[in-house]
Amino acid sequence: MPTWDPSQYERYKAYRDRPALDLLIQVPEGLEPREIWDLGCGTGEHAALLKRRHPEAVVHGLDSSTDMLARARQRPEDIDWVSADVADWAPDRPVDLIFSNAALHWLGDHERLFPRLAERLSSGGILACQMPVSWRAPQHTLLRETAAHGPWADALAGIDGVKPLLEPEGYYDALAPLCADVDLWTTTYLHVLDGEDPVVEWMKGSGLRPYLDAVSPEMQAPFLDAYRRRLASAFPRRADGSTLLPFERLFVVARRA
Ligand SMILES: C[S@@+](CC[C@H](N)C(=O)[O-])C[C@H]1O[C@@H](n2cnc3c(N)ncnc32)[C@H](O)[C@@H]1O
Repeated sequence: MPTWDPSQYERYKAYRDRPALDLLIQVPEGLEPREIWDLGCGTGEHAALLKRRHPEAVVHGLDSSTDMLARARQRPEDIDWVSADVADWAPDRPVDLIFSNAALHWLGDHERLFPRLAERLSSGGILACQMPVSWRAPQHTLLRETAAHGPWADALAGIDGVKPLLEPEGYYDALAPLCADVDLWTTTYLHVLDGEDPVVEWMKGSGLRPYLDAVSPEMQAPFLDAYRRRLASAFPRRADGSTLLPFERLFVVARRA
């Protein structure tokens, strides 16, 4: 499991929040959930929002990072913060709403994971999930290329980073046997980033984490320089000095039959 840095992650908070809010508005208005789980809740922003939206519900926020959960625990809302791996998640009671924003792409085997999640839902319960389509995005292919070429290659071989997603049809096939409605869509956001090497700074908050954990301290600066050089041609600065980061995300909203 990579370490997480809540402050670095929240540096681009507005951009990282927007897909979560785009997902939340697709949760049916009439849903009156009693049990809500936010899987991979991070610093707890959306679990807190769900608690405010459904004050009668028991809201659980689960994450495997103690650093992210420490930040979440500072929130005033009455939320059950759970330190655990989504892969081992086995709630005691049927769940009315499973929410997961930008977390499940860190787990593999989605053909089995998604039916397992749907099985935890109560009848009529909702699975609402958003995942970055990271694996094939240039900032990730160039990261893997950088990791494979250089004196750090041995240390970075076999890093447990983000996983490739299924094609959207794969999520339909995984969920349709258990769910009455399966709604799938992708959106590509065009993030306008400021400053020096903003794609590296963005990645330091997410996809770079396991690489930074594994590379030796003396190799960290040359590794990041090599990554920066590869990114420069893929993400040129615009005339006004900003850098555009196209970011595709896959959304899944399914209702248990
Ligand atoms: C990109 S952050 C998203 C956090 C939050 N959902 C948000 O939108 O702000 C991904 C989170 O998923 C958590 N995570 C990744 N793999 C996990 C796993 N297998 N089990 C539990 N949490 C996991 C990480 O610790 C991290 O906090």
